[in-house]
Amino acid sequence: MKILIVGANSHIGARIYSQMDHSKHAIIGTYCQHPADDLSHLDITNENSVRDFSKKYNPDLIIHLSAITSTDFCQENPKIAREIHVEGTKRLLSHFDSRFIFSSTNVVFYGPNTSYYEDDFSNRNPRSVYGKTKVEAEDAVLENGGTVVRFDLVLSNSKPYQPQQAFNEMVISKLRKGDTINLWTDYLIKPLSNFSVAEGVEKLVDYKGKRRIFHLAGKNQVSSEQLGLMVAQIFGLDSSFIKPIPRTPKDLETRPSSVSLSTSLTERDLQWKPRSLNESLLELKKELQPVS
Ligand SMILES: NC(=O)c1ccc[n+]([C@@H]2O[C@H](COP(=O)([O-])OP(=O)(O)OC[C@H]3O[C@@H](n4cnc5c(N)ncnc54)[C@H](OP(=O)(O)O)[C@@H]3O)[C@@H](O)[C@H]2O)c1
Repeated sequence: MKILIVGANSHIGARIYSQMDHSKHAIIGTYCQHPADDLSHLDITNENSVRDFSKKYNPDLIIHLSAITSTDFCQENPKIAREIHVEGTKRLLSHFDSRFIFSSTNVVFYGPNTSYYEDDFSNRNPRSVYGKTKVEAEDAVLENGGTVVRFDLVLSNSKPYQPQQAFNEMVISKLRKGDTINLWTDYLIKPLSNFSVAEGVEKLVDYKGKRRIFHLAGKNQVSSEQLGLMVAQIFGLDSSFIKPIPRTPKDLETRPSSVSLSTSLTERDLQWKPRSLNESLLELKKELQPVS
């Protein structure tokens, strides 16, 4: 199969790109502002860039991972968020006829439930610009016959060209410096490693069934504070710099109480198993250890 991975230098995309079997598939990966080996340039906000790319490549499948993942940046720059999430996605849909997999997020939900099924479609009610623009893009993809895969918080080890740290990396670097970290006690998530996400997406590539919405999340539901404490424990760091705090009224404007994703229908249909948080953190720790 010919597969185009848009955003193949992202935390999740880079793992999918490297983990996928390149002898089984012809895989083309793209970057936008941060070049990486073997990847081609594609800016989904630029009509000519997308048109030229579609003339050059004719993939059977597109896995679209490009986004602005900072909730705060999207909140302050709604036009940019919309241009990338909504218009960029529609631009890809209009220029390519390929089967389409779109990466979305748990924050398309806001509450009051603590967990959402793949089929809780009518319960999407985000308050953030990030969540709202992802909902619009999800709708465009689903109307076009595409597939949506939502991720809970993804843990990963950055590559040198990646500008942003993952949550686990932020905790490790602050604890190593002895900086205080304020972590929420009232925000529940089901974190998983990007290894585990890549496994799920690979199964989705081969999926031939009727399901159109999938959830990839970890096995354990924890607060941000509990996640920070687990990172400290597994990486052997002093957790006394972690300060438990509740979210402020301003945080609550955009962040729901708990938006953990249930994965039961995805597990059944993809034959994919979520890893425990312990397993996810251990595989990320192992990746950082020098090979002897
Ligand atoms: N990480 C998580 O915890 C998480 C959780 C839920 C959902 N997701 C979703 O999963 C996907 C990947 O997330 P991630 O955290 O791995 O992303 P990331 O590391 O923040 O990378 C963002 C990607 O978007 C690309 N991009 C930005 N602007 C672009 C443009 N105009 N044209 C083309 N590409 C552009 C970036 O390319 P350059 O860097 O080269 O500009 C990069 O590949 C996103 O859809 C995100 O919403 C992530």
